[in-house]
Amino acid sequence: MAKIHVFDSPQEMVIAFARDFALWSRRKLQQQSSISVALSGGSTPKRLFEIWGGGPPDAHSSDFPQMQARQNDLADLIESIPWNKIHLFWGDERCVPADDPESNYGVAHKTWLSRIDIPPANVHRVRGEANPVEEAIRYENEIALYFESSGHQPATSNGGASRMATDNLPAAIPKFDLIMLGMGVDGHTASIFPERLDLFQSSAICSVVRHPVSNQQRITLTGNVINQASRIIFLITGADKAEVLRQVIEHSGNFQEYPAAHIRGPQVEFFLDQSAAARLEGRKSSR
Ligand code: 6PG
Repeated sequence: MAKIHVFDSPQEMVIAFARDFALWSRRKLQQQSSISVALSGGSTPKRLFEIWGGGPPDAHSSDFPQMQARQNDLADLIESIPWNKIHLFWGDERCVPADDPESNYGVAHKTWLSRIDIPPANVHRVRGEANPVEEAIRYENEIALYFESSGHQPATSNGGASRMATDNLPAAIPKFDLIMLGMGVDGHTASIFPERLDLFQSSAICSVVRHPVSNQQRITLTGNVINQASRIIFLITGADKAEVLRQVIEHSGNFQEYPAAHIRGPQVEFFLDQSAAARLEGRKSSR
């Protein structure tokens, strides 16, 4: 059963996750020399990126005195994060230039990456401005190269022996240390939309997809890669997701139609605000 953490507000949720991430990364780096993190996109993680970047650029302590104090308390923890040992990837990206407001990398760069000291080689962005099909191949190779060169032998689906990609699974599935995910109101996650559940059987590391409404092209990690991660964290807020989230977590109703419900395993955790968790049985706020 997935671990579920519920917080009073979106800001409380991201402060809690920022604290969790700082402590988790410290523990992880006692066991290995670098960490691989695939970031989620959309609007939810923006608050988190602002905290990682040293606080909202236009924050005024009068706005959130208690939160500001807690964030300041958090500041020491965040300043201790060794970003030079953390490699950042994207779980999905919109096929737009980095300066487009739609760019997941663009949002992270503006609110966070441009404000911290992180080696450019640690930032493995998807080049949204490139030809999507060519970029999916390039990004897949960049991921594979990282896992080969970092000493993290990619996991294979049968515990060690290498496999041919023809066995319907990648020859070697990269095992990210952490993958962050959001969820859309239609139950999509990363850019795996309900129409593309086949991406949970894909033998590729990433794939080009189209948003079912806007037709925007995107590049997304595939379902096997996401499920292979050592730790998977959903960050979900908002009442408009409460009913789908209930079905996803409780495996009820139409859950099979929702890609988020196909992200499974003991490594899955949910960080939620009260609004998103409103339909969950007996969920109390975490402190
Ligand atoms: C993206 C995401 C996507 C997102 C959900 C939730 O690129 O849009 O990766 O999966 O996490 O759509 O988006 P919000 O955080 O904006 O609700």
